[in-house]
Amino acid sequence: MAIPVLIDCDPGHDDAIALLLALASPELEVLGVTTVAGNVGLDKTTPNALRVLELAQRTDISVAAGFARPLYRPLQIAANVHGDSGLDGPTLPVPKTAAVDVHAVDFLAEKIATSEEPVTLVPVGPLTNIAVLLNSYPDIGSRIARIVLMGGAIATGNVTPAAEFNIYVDPEAAHRVFHSGLPITMMGLDVTHKALLGADHADQLRGAGAVGKFVAELLDFFLVNHPRHFESRGGVPIHDALAVAHLIWPDLVETVDCHVTVETQSDLCRGRTVVDRWQVTGQTPNASVGVDLDGGVFAKNLLERLGAY
Ligand code: BDR
Ligand code: CA
Repeated sequence: MAIPVLIDCDPGHDDAIALLLALASPELEVLGVTTVAGNVGLDKTTPNALRVLELAQRTDISVAAGFARPLYRPLQIAANVHGDSGLDGPTLPVPKTAAVDVHAVDFLAEKIATSEEPVTLVPVGPLTNIAVLLNSYPDIGSRIARIVLMGGAIATGNVTPAAEFNIYVDPEAAHRVFHSGLPITMMGLDVTHKALLGADHADQLRGAGAVGKFVAELLDFFLVNHPRHFESRGGVPIHDALAVAHLIWPDLVETVDCHVTVETQSDLCRGRTVVDRWQVTGQTPNASVGVDLDGGVFAKNLLERLGAY
């Protein structure tokens, strides 16, 4: 049976590819998509999510818009990485569809409550919507199978030396989620920086229909722009697709159970995921953390799915 999933995202090049991977995969049933401010403002992430569903011809799946800013802090975006639109590269038509008139938090709660099976949440942006969901619907946890998120790092960050972007943007929300007691899987930079696509992959996809062309043009932009900010060897990281890939191919990423908490007090280390990789604190693990993957298998599997549209 397909795993029922809800994807909370801030598209974003890698968010768009994550959505396309999920929609191309019979192992998953996408119950809905919610958006949050992150890579760019909510006014852009929501139409971007709609565009991706239209491209995939899956407008049967609803999009609900969530929070336009983090819980307590001003929004910091990543337009330097993803461009002004959040999806710079391909031509972006005005979406023909609209988001449903329900807040993402209530939409998630309704989808979770009405699903026959417990639902897996796949947050690949700042965790604002998910934190508020857990606060607003305190009993919802019993209907959530697990949370497989992209965010954090055991080692170095990308937005600061200490922190990864999704966690840095809303550290209080991330703290709430990591301490929710729910089964959490963290796909952090330690593994997503091995989940690469390069120019050869873009060229392989370019002739593969409208979706292949769209992804190729996303990659064309990302392959030029991403290395301006981060060293990229052998391609650019498709961070968010790894969270989806882990659900489809559970053996792809090696994980280790660790205690993880999030730094919310310090300015210097704001948003750092403090991962007790070697269990030196003796605290009970609260997350399964990605530590390694075969990037070649990731790229091959991803290309097969994207090329099959
Ligand atoms: C994360 O930040 C965003 O820019 C990406 O979409 C990804 O979710 C990587 O740090
Ligand atoms: Ca993202």
